[in-house]
Amino acid sequence: MQKSIRRRNFIGETASVAAATAFLPYTSLATDNKNKVQPSGKKRLALVGTGDRGSSNWGKSVVNNFAEYVEFVALCDINPKRMEAAKQLIGVDVKCYPAPDFDLMIKETRPDLVIVTTTDCFHEKYIVRAMELGCDVISEKSIAIDADQCQRIADAEVRTGRKVIVGFNVRHMNESIEMKKILLSGELGKVISIDYHEYLDTSHGASYFRRWHGKKAYSGSLLLHKASHHFDLINWLLESEPIDVHAIGKLAFYGHNNNYRGRNCRDCAFTEKCKFYWDMTKDARMMALYGNCEDVDGYFRDGCVWDNEIDIYDTSSVQVNYDNGTQFTYTMNTFLPQEGQRITFFCENGKLDVNLNYSQPWEVAGTFEFRITKDRKTTKYWILKPAEGSHGGADDRLKELIFKPGTKDQFNSRADSRAGIMSSLIGIAARQSIETGKMVQIADLVKFPKVWRG
Ligand SMILES: NC(=O)c1ccc[n+]([C@@H]2O[C@H](COP(=O)([O-])OP(=O)(O)OC[C@H]3O[C@@H](n4cnc5c(N)ncnc54)[C@H](O)[C@@H]3O)[C@@H](O)[C@H]2O)c1
Repeated sequence: MQKSIRRRNFIGETASVAAATAFLPYTSLATDNKNKVQPSGKKRLALVGTGDRGSSNWGKSVVNNFAEYVEFVALCDINPKRMEAAKQLIGVDVKCYPAPDFDLMIKETRPDLVIVTTTDCFHEKYIVRAMELGCDVISEKSIAIDADQCQRIADAEVRTGRKVIVGFNVRHMNESIEMKKILLSGELGKVISIDYHEYLDTSHGASYFRRWHGKKAYSGSLLLHKASHHFDLINWLLESEPIDVHAIGKLAFYGHNNNYRGRNCRDCAFTEKCKFYWDMTKDARMMALYGNCEDVDGYFRDGCVWDNEIDIYDTSSVQVNYDNGTQFTYTMNTFLPQEGQRITFFCENGKLDVNLNYSQPWEVAGTFEFRITKDRKTTKYWILKPAEGSHGGADDRLKELIFKPGTKDQFNSRADSRAGIMSSLIGIAARQSIETGKMVQIADLVKFPKVWRG
């Protein structure tokens, strides 16, 4: 039987309140933060996880475009060399703290907001600690990669009264806004079911298998790392939440599915014959952030896609029932000649087809095709283009909504911890379903706080 989150029995918050007393020494810090007068009037930012995303979207781009509203006060990372390289790339003159000094960083630099852009498995640790230390948080997706992490974030937010914003930039893409407008217009009526196919190619798709993303322990699998964007998109479009999840998945192409392998491309004996050979030395930014820092942490950014330790799925299918009755089918294939998405909404008054052609078919590459079909005679077809800027302009729209006071949130695009947790829970449930062969009830994974009751 399906269990609705809204209808379930919720736990009290007694346990959370008791746990909070463990952090009493920092209560005064939270108060200090609130009452602090900023001479500049700007929000103070600290960034933890100074890799590619941290130093670009949440680093340099913030300094370049939002310096009127925010300023960096500190950086933090596990790798001091990468942190120093990021500091140069971002172009800030702030103190750098090694990861074990995270608490010290907060105490000394008093940020209002902590931006979390570490490897996914560590998001929760910093989200929770930052809130305990009196800060609000911006976290990259996936905010959590297992159910216990989701629980700890939900509890910490209630306990501390601080807030988490999730970097779901996909909500801000032209094509997502177009889908939202169509569904909000009511033209098609109730959404009965959705088919959603994610196609990743042997360039972008393969890149996940070169990096930490290829290990479930770090990324939770692509059902978290990648699909959390898509699960969130559907949750947001439907304005509904998942009830139960069933999935199948396998590793059928990358990892152990080859008869030779190396450690990483620069150190490989098979560069001549491997079609995934990538010469990272040609990319100065990659070398600054990773190649020149690997002696510290042993992390190879050009890792082998045939690594035997890769344990995520490259092929998966997920089915979700929603609170509002919508049935959702999602597939992800990661080794294709083409990159794109096909999404179809089957509704009571017709059908919406969305073809996002990132790389192919050639004749429509770089376009987003929309088609509404009402009946056998009536169809409407149009094409959208992405906006200028990274991730189709979505990265800047997201930052504007977060940093620029007074920015209108027309489509309720600001994603909170609940949205982050709900998208993660679909991926977590899908992984559990693949591993057990059973359907997973979302409400069995986390005890949701009372304040979430709908
Ligand atoms: N929304 C998007 O479009 C988008 C795009 C890319 C990445 N991301 C997200 O951004 C995050 C970072 O991705 P990336 O590509 O920059 O990865 P990355 O590997 O380049 O960066 C991660 C950084 O975290 C640091 N780190 C690892 N463990 C740490 C720890 N325990 N404490 C402190 N620092 C630690 C690493 O040293 C590294 O500098 C990920 O969560 C990813 O999901 C989002």
